[in-house]
Amino acid sequence: MSDYQEFDPLEIDRRAVYRLLTGSVVPRPIGWASTVNGDGITNLAPFSFFTVVCVVPPMISLTIARNPDGSEKHTLKNIKETGDFCFNVATEGVWQQMVDTGNAIPEGDSEFDDTGLTPIPGVKVKSPRVAEVPIHFECKLHQVIELGPHKHPLVIGEVVYFHVDPDCMTNGYIDMAKLRPMGRLNGHFYAPLGEILEREFVDGQPR
Ligand SMILES: Cc1cc2nc3c(=O)[nH]c(=O)nc-3n(C[C@H](O)[C@H](O)[C@H](O)COP(=O)(O)O)c2cc1C
Repeated sequence: MSDYQEFDPLEIDRRAVYRLLTGSVVPRPIGWASTVNGDGITNLAPFSFFTVVCVVPPMISLTIARNPDGSEKHTLKNIKETGDFCFNVATEGVWQQMVDTGNAIPEGDSEFDDTGLTPIPGVKVKSPRVAEVPIHFECKLHQVIELGPHKHPLVIGEVVYFHVDPDCMTNGYIDMAKLRPMGRLNGHFYAPLGEILEREFVDGQPR
């Protein structure tokens, strides 16, 4: 039996904790969030501390950490201002632009202009959607929960409208081979889909 290295989060620095979390909770889906502020300036940023949290009603969560100076990221400010955001699935074809939308740019500038991606309107929300990807969820802000002593905001959004390009569906299911989602690993590493394995079931039981 090998000896494991052991770490007490209270005794290691926050970068080491971050490395353990982001190197072990992998691959992570990417919550690519598009928003708009009260002046109509659009915003787009990726968040990999992201998951689905409820089905009825449908809800997803994003952890939008504070900036090092304690201020709120533009995405969070916009979500609080308008009460909504859109989640866009990050796909292989746009993954480098998705990463570029993680660059900090001035509040008056838009990552859509910066990356050449196209904002298109939502149906039930003010936030735009990314035209270059096949799935968007329109979300209304449900709750912001502040975590820990630094009050890192966990944003929960209720999905009020789904958009899915039929070209990425087969028999009513979203088809991974057509969708080609990108996952986040650690550091600057990302993962497209590898081989897709299907577990065999007989009479409802796995074999
Ligand atoms: C792939 C990727 C995933 C990221 N995940 C997160 C995350 O989960 N939480 C977070 O606060 N920042 C995350 N970031 C950093 C933000 O995207 C970055 O701070 C961005 O500038 C925020 O933009 P905004 O100020 O326009 O909201 C991530 C960056 C990348 C490239």
